[in-house]
Amino acid sequence: MDKMELRLYDIQAESEAKELVDIFLEYYPRSPWPPTKEKIMKGGVVYFRAFYQGQQIGVTGYSVKTPNLAETVKTTIFHAFRGKGLGAILSQAIEDECKRIGIKKVLSTVYYFNHVMVQIKLKQGYTIEGYHPDHEAPGFHEYSLGKILK
Ligand SMILES: CC(C)(COP(=O)(O)OP(=O)(O)OC[C@H]1O[C@@H](n2cnc3c(N)ncnc32)[C@H](O)[C@@H]1OP(=O)(O)O)[C@@H](O)C(=O)NCCC(=O)NCCS
Repeated sequence: MDKMELRLYDIQAESEAKELVDIFLEYYPRSPWPPTKEKIMKGGVVYFRAFYQGQQIGVTGYSVKTPNLAETVKTTIFHAFRGKGLGAILSQAIEDECKRIGIKKVLSTVYYFNHVMVQIKLKQGYTIEGYHPDHEAPGFHEYSLGKILK
């Protein structure tokens, strides 16, 4: 199988932060609090371009919470590449990246209506550790899905 390659975004570069903002506005249209360029440039989240077979097919990222724990965020497959298993491969790739930097547990919060991502995470050995009603905003219930890395 071809490898999913993660290439770091340079979030200090305004153009790259802007590119991420545009992607999030397009791919998370229901999000009540999409990250702004300023927020992205402030840091705290490490973002990657996801490359597969030589082209960018999406983005992903993580935020280190403690030396043990990282939250993976914004795992996104661009529309043209959906439904081919790449979301699952990218989910695994960002988990592997967290493991590579020494993280022992990964966490992901997923909107309750995002059945595809919930299904991807459950299949990859995550368990639902929490259900958070009205979490990000009223009506935006979320699951937290966690996995202890062996
Ligand atoms: C979630 C996302 C990354 C999935 O990408 P994708 O490449 O289309 O996903 P895959 O092709 O890997 O499909 C993953 C699984 O979901 C299944 N699936 C597809 N539609 C589904 C549905 N409506 N309900 C449940 N499972 C579904 C697929 O059958 C596949 O399961 P399988 O491996 O058992 O066959 C993509 O939809 C996306 O970018 N969404 C917008 C951003 C987002 O919400 N990201 C998650 C933030 S937490």
